[in-house]
Amino acid sequence: MTSSTTPTHKDRVLIFDTTLRDGEQCPGATMTLDEKLAVAELLDTMGVDIIEAGFPIASNGDFEAVAEIARRAKRATIAGLARAIPADIARAGEAVRHARRGRIHTFVSTSPIHLAHQMRKTQDEVIEIILKTVSQARDLVEDVEWSAMDATRTPIDYLCRCVEAAIRSGATTINLPDTVGYATPDEYRAIFRSVRERVPNADQAVFSVHCHNDLGLAIANSLAGVEGGARQVECTINGIGERAGNAALEEIVMAIRTRGDVMPYETGIETTMLTRASKLVSHATNFPVQYNKAIVGRNAFAHESGIHQDGMLKHTETYEIMTPASVGVSKTSLVMGKHSGRAAFRSKLEELGITLSDNRMQDAFERFKALADRKKHVYDEDIEALVDENLATAHDRIRLVSLSVIAGTHGPQRATMKLAIDGRVVTEEAEGNGPVDAVFNAIQALVPHVADLELYKVDAVTEGTDAQAEVSVRLKSGERSVTARGADPDTLVASARAYLSALNKLSASAVRLHAQSPATVS
Ligand code: KIV
Ligand code: ZN
Repeated sequence: MTSSTTPTHKDRVLIFDTTLRDGEQCPGATMTLDEKLAVAELLDTMGVDIIEAGFPIASNGDFEAVAEIARRAKRATIAGLARAIPADIARAGEAVRHARRGRIHTFVSTSPIHLAHQMRKTQDEVIEIILKTVSQARDLVEDVEWSAMDATRTPIDYLCRCVEAAIRSGATTINLPDTVGYATPDEYRAIFRSVRERVPNADQAVFSVHCHNDLGLAIANSLAGVEGGARQVECTINGIGERAGNAALEEIVMAIRTRGDVMPYETGIETTMLTRASKLVSHATNFPVQYNKAIVGRNAFAHESGIHQDGMLKHTETYEIMTPASVGVSKTSLVMGKHSGRAAFRSKLEELGITLSDNRMQDAFERFKALADRKKHVYDEDIEALVDENLATAHDRIRLVSLSVIAGTHGPQRATMKLAIDGRVVTEEAEGNGPVDAVFNAIQALVPHVADLELYKVDAVTEGTDAQAEVSVRLKSGERSVTARGADPDTLVASARAYLSALNKLSASAVRLHAQSPATVS
């Protein structure tokens, strides 16, 4: 928009989205199968070239998700991750078998620190592993990506040997990840330049960047890698991923698009879908998007100071380097209230990037009407919160039927709760040190379970004393940790909903429910 001379030839940079693998792998970001399918469908529609749909050997759930996404994808290549282990590669090959275009992405560590302490292998042994595993993958699919884990801390001579071996065995994409987020842009650019110059068969593969954000350099490093010759960028929606996350897809795509004058590249992403994708992933993972997050944060196009507002009124380019519309933010927002009908509600959901089946739409509409009766203005955030609720509860085995709480200065506080567990209604009364404790004790009595409460957080969805409370709860049971949200104008009801939603997510795998009374979780 502000650029002067834009180069005429632009190299295509492939977008490899790993929200469903590296993103989902971070603590608390677990998604259900339905959520993964919805995210994959949106990524496919918005033009992502490769969707890394999961790590098939990790669990049956991961395998099913990759296989189902592979069956459904219309345009994107579907990749499954595999360690350099024959069973992993066979499982990944099986999972992507039905894709129009399937990819096995296999990786092995190459840095001295990983070889000495994690792999306990010599450099020559790792070369042997690369030759065998990449060949095995290539026998299963045409499209094989090989990654040198911790590439940025690997001596360049050895890295070149590994890359040469991987390409010789059939790898078609070579990924050099900054696994620990340690590189600087100059170093990362130089690694790509050296490897591409020194490896004799380098021209037979596409090179890829994969950057973690431990030092906040993931985007700068990814773009430097592209300058060094990489033509695939691995990234995630909202930048979710291990530790500090991965490079954010929306930032990469908009940086390339907005600064086409200095970066002669293009992607195939429909940028007007970026906000929608961000909201969908935030809903599915229950990870909030930071307010000032580039491109998709609530404040990304908000102008607060008088000087900025004055400039914006005179000419938007004074303070905006891209238009809100280019990333899917619409200026005219429908105001919703108790007189809004089904059509307006449906159109609001579309504007917010939310697609619901007819049944869920009906449930969400009824909840919207109930909320609009209690609250004068229903804001976008209210609708997002109630749809989150609605999505999360569609397959729930434990449902809240009713809750009443006696709270106040004279304890102990008491909660009376009625739940439907697999359709059977059970009631319990419990005391607690405060009303929230009483509510959670009632749940524990009705659904005995072993899980640690790692997070309990209350936010107001909007402003005003009639605002809905949005409660986030993270539960950890064994190795699995899930985050869930619950929203309601009553903070205690929202707390109960959030806790039950987390239990429902856990019950989908690690937890077993019995229909007898009281219900047990083990
Ligand atoms: O960060 C990393 O090295 C990875 C690999 C599996 C590609 O995620
Ligand atoms: Zn990673």
